[in-house]
Amino acid sequence: MKFTVLTIFPEMFAHIQESILKRAKHSGLIEIELVNFRDFAESKHKNVDDVPYGGGAGMVLKPEPIFNAMASVDRTGNSRTILLSQQGQLYNQKKAHELTVYDHLIFLCGHYEGFDERIRTLADEEISIGDYVLTGGELAAMVIIDSVARLLPGVLGKANSWEHDSHSQGLLEYPHYTRPPDYMGMKVPEVLLSGHHAELEKWRRKESLRRTFMRRRDLFERLEFQPGDYELLEELWPECPGLISYRHKWQHLEPKSKKKKSRPMSD
Ligand SMILES: C[S@@+](CC[C@H](N)C(=O)[O-])C[C@H]1O[C@@H](n2cnc3c(N)ncnc32)[C@H](O)[C@@H]1O
Repeated sequence: MKFTVLTIFPEMFAHIQESILKRAKHSGLIEIELVNFRDFAESKHKNVDDVPYGGGAGMVLKPEPIFNAMASVDRTGNSRTILLSQQGQLYNQKKAHELTVYDHLIFLCGHYEGFDERIRTLADEEISIGDYVLTGGELAAMVIIDSVARLLPGVLGKANSWEHDSHSQGLLEYPHYTRPPDYMGMKVPEVLLSGHHAELEKWRRKESLRRTFMRRRDLFERLEFQPGDYELLEELWPECPGLISYRHKWQHLEPKSKKKKSRPMSD
């Protein structure tokens, strides 16, 4: 996938070209192109901003440099132009997955008071990375590039190793441990040392459910449980205060054999 970023601070992007993304770039899985739209300014002093009509604090990004820079971009395959904006749709993991279908993502990074309104016509969509205001769109573009690139086939070492990541299936990921098995009296759960694969998978799913319930009630409330979750949630609710009030959401998953057994005996 190709990422093109229109920015007046291309040097800020040195940081995302390290580690995994550096490897992905070297193996040709991703390409990052930085376009300094100041180079496309028509004025003698290469100004990219001007005072707002009607007055007010701050400077506004002028249309000409950004329109000129956009016209110079060589579009590759199925492309999409994203304007980074605190007024855009909120970004999340689902959106990251949706963006992986494109061959080429083009980012417009704002600065100062923001863009001249006419620049918005260049974008297919506007994305915000959160309900707060950044100095510029560069950090937001980096967040999106990083989170999309790691979903592309081959970018992470082990194929599909993002599948269990937090948010990929609406859950937070289970806890991780590494050696030693006992550190200052803090022990690694037995099941992780047992080598029993089926039990390990059950433990991971149960801990994911627990974490999501304890830390992100909003995500937990949106979960659609799988049949195997019945047993895990029945084990979990006595351990997690408040979980019992959601029991109606998994009761329909009770295995038929258990239902029969728990039915009251007729006389
Ligand atoms: C200082 S902000 C402009 C704020 C603007 N005056 C307002 O209050 O709506 C400058 C630029 O930073 C970027 N930016 C700021 N916050 C952002 C966010 N939460 N997500 C994405 N981009 C953001 C946008 O590109 C924006 O044009």
